[in-house]
Amino acid sequence: MTVLTGAGISAASGIPTFRGEGGLWRHFRAEDLATPEAFQSNPALVWEWYDWRRQKVASCQPNVGHVVLARWTGQSDRCTVVTQNVDDLHVRAGTARLIRLHGSIWELACWSGCGATPWRDEHAPLPELPATCPRCRGLARPAIVWFGESLSADDVSAARRACACDVFIAVGTSAVVYPAAGLLQEASSAGAFTAEINTETTAATSEVDASLQGAAEVILPQLDERVTFRHQG
Ligand code: OAD
Repeated sequence: MTVLTGAGISAASGIPTFRGEGGLWRHFRAEDLATPEAFQSNPALVWEWYDWRRQKVASCQPNVGHVVLARWTGQSDRCTVVTQNVDDLHVRAGTARLIRLHGSIWELACWSGCGATPWRDEHAPLPELPATCPRCRGLARPAIVWFGESLSADDVSAARRACACDVFIAVGTSAVVYPAAGLLQEASSAGAFTAEINTETTAATSEVDASLQGAAEVILPQLDERVTFRHQG
């Protein structure tokens, strides 16, 4: 089983989704801020947004949805979670097999590419905005995959391998951002039974074999009560 997660799984923890209600920060959409062009033209604004999101993540805890998925990865070595989320709630819940397609909100990188290895900084708020590179003292950026940038080839390969599964479930994602959204079609083409758990209908609803409409934090515990893994991890 492979589970693809999006911002909706962290909604119950208190982290706003990108496209849902309350998803706009001031009047900006994620597509207006999470791009190299936006950062180039206004790094202070983009950093302000990330600093706000970092503070949200720091103050939130994994919810029962993250906990159920973590338990499943512990119960079967054939259960993998692929996430688009840059929060670390799957990690904090103890997820055993996790592929993080868009990176981590706690990682920073040098904007000018001075050769510094990306580093971890968990200060929230950050003491200095915009953040700077410890090596060259130039501008630092969030080490997150932005719109128009390539995902790590290793992560994409691992996610594609995880599409060779019996059941593929998309949880809390609007399924509009590629390549993550394409994993559902890939799993389906490879013969997986596909399902979606979402509070609303999405781009994927008409594509999946089963659509479970409701909140992840309600439906995942209900599934958990009924799931038995035969291949123990
Ligand atoms: P979106 O904000 O696009 O979608 C969140 C989805 O979660 C919506 O379809 C909601 O209906 C659903 N939802 C909300 N609350 C829920 C709940 N309690 N249970 C289940 N579903 C719920 O977020 P993503 O699909 O994750 O990229 O967005 C994909 C990417 O676009 C993100 O990774 C981010 C963003 O820009 C980057 O930052 C690079």
